[in-house]
Amino acid sequence: MTQDEMKKAAGWAALDYVKPGSIVGVGTGSTVNHFIDALATMKGQIEGAVSSSVASTEKLKELGIEVFDSNEVAGLDVYVDGADEINAQRDMIKGGGAALTREKIVAAMSKTFVCIVDGTKAVDVLGKFPLPVEVIPMARAYVARELVKLGGTPEYRQGVVTDNGNIILDVHNLAIVDPKGLETTINGLAGVVTVGLFAHRGADVVITGTAEGAKIEA
Ligand code: A5P
Repeated sequence: MTQDEMKKAAGWAALDYVKPGSIVGVGTGSTVNHFIDALATMKGQIEGAVSSSVASTEKLKELGIEVFDSNEVAGLDVYVDGADEINAQRDMIKGGGAALTREKIVAAMSKTFVCIVDGTKAVDVLGKFPLPVEVIPMARAYVARELVKLGGTPEYRQGVVTDNGNIILDVHNLAIVDPKGLETTINGLAGVVTVGLFAHRGADVVITGTAEGAKIEA
């Protein structure tokens, strides 16, 4: 089975968590793209979606799923999104696709976070995948210096502007043994919009695509 087939198995299995008549939180990435394809098969049974990125919004609309402004929705039952890394405590690194801030907002609005991944995303300690941090452009150098003090090696993601008009610093060489603590510390730096650590609000359900099909941990 290819990695993409495993992503597809995870994406389609997440359909079981979608309640008829609901508005569904939809994340970003290649695994979520499979989920959106699956969601389109029940578009007559759901009210619509709240999306965490321009890319997902476009795909949802193309497939005929109504996309609501997050401010028009009181809350969401479920948010389905991928991850770049996930540990056994269900803390995640996200933001490989630069959509981390909107992802964190939609995750915060949702009762249940369903994380869909292929088996390559599971790790013992987070940090091999460079940790994305969304930063207000004028704070780029300051925040980079502070991230060095925390033991990381920040790298400016060249040519990338987020959906919110900001830049991304990818922090290499971190072994994140205290995800909640590091999330709080980095979020507290002036000029940081969001760090791509999802520990305070981690995943509730993990669906992993494997060669044997989707494995669900609820
Ligand atoms: C987007 O910003 C990320 O948080 C994605 O959830 C993550 O990069 C997963 O992407 P894939 O599903 O493409 O691996």
